[in-house]
Amino acid sequence: MKLFIDSAKLDEIKTAASWGILDGVTTNPTLIMQAGMPARNASPSDAGGDFKKTILAITKMVNGPISAETVSPDAAGMIKEGKEFAAWHKNIHVKVPCTSEGIKAVKEFRKLGIKTNVTLVFSANQVLLAAKSGATLISPFVGRLVDAGEDGMAMIAEAMHIIKNYNFTSQLLVASVRDTRMVTDAAVLGAHIATCPFKVLEAMFKHPLTDKGIEKFLADWAKAKK
Ligand code: E4P
Repeated sequence: MKLFIDSAKLDEIKTAASWGILDGVTTNPTLIMQAGMPARNASPSDAGGDFKKTILAITKMVNGPISAETVSPDAAGMIKEGKEFAAWHKNIHVKVPCTSEGIKAVKEFRKLGIKTNVTLVFSANQVLLAAKSGATLISPFVGRLVDAGEDGMAMIAEAMHIIKNYNFTSQLLVASVRDTRMVTDAAVLGAHIATCPFKVLEAMFKHPLTDKGIEKFLADWAKAKK
């Protein structure tokens, strides 16, 4: 399974990239805001400046899919924004919401050879629609489903069945990951990708018995050398 970082913070991305296990990066308007960048307007002409600089900086740190999210409400606006983002770098995946307008935009991006990530996906039927439109990546938000009292992983299982049943080329990107258990569950279900906050990626390395084991080995090694 591929692991992406769900962040626009360059220090976090740089550290995660240094571990050698990072395959891509997802950003969204909230993550851009949290990284300290000024909010950008809906107009594609305002999509430059800090946002563009940040996305380009990320492309230099990670050689894999980098998602940049559109903010237009209609397909025409999404296409205009997405064409601009895609021209910045070959690895940019244009993120659009799973609405009828978003799906229309994905169909057009597919024709243009522009890679996409359909986001804000909360049901298996939305996965089916996004896959039919030719989305490169499809992002179900598992954590937000769990927050709403739903079984997020059951939805991922259904979505993986649908993708496999019809040999769709779309890759399922498990998003809104809250903890390391969700990464394991996604991997067991065969999801193609999980995008994780920095703290979740960091926590994946850790186990108290690993720390305890190192401590004991070092102590015994010191004794052995005496
Ligand atoms: C990533 O593509 C999504 O935008 C992100 O995982 C959403 O996560 P959240 O539910 O923690 O905001």
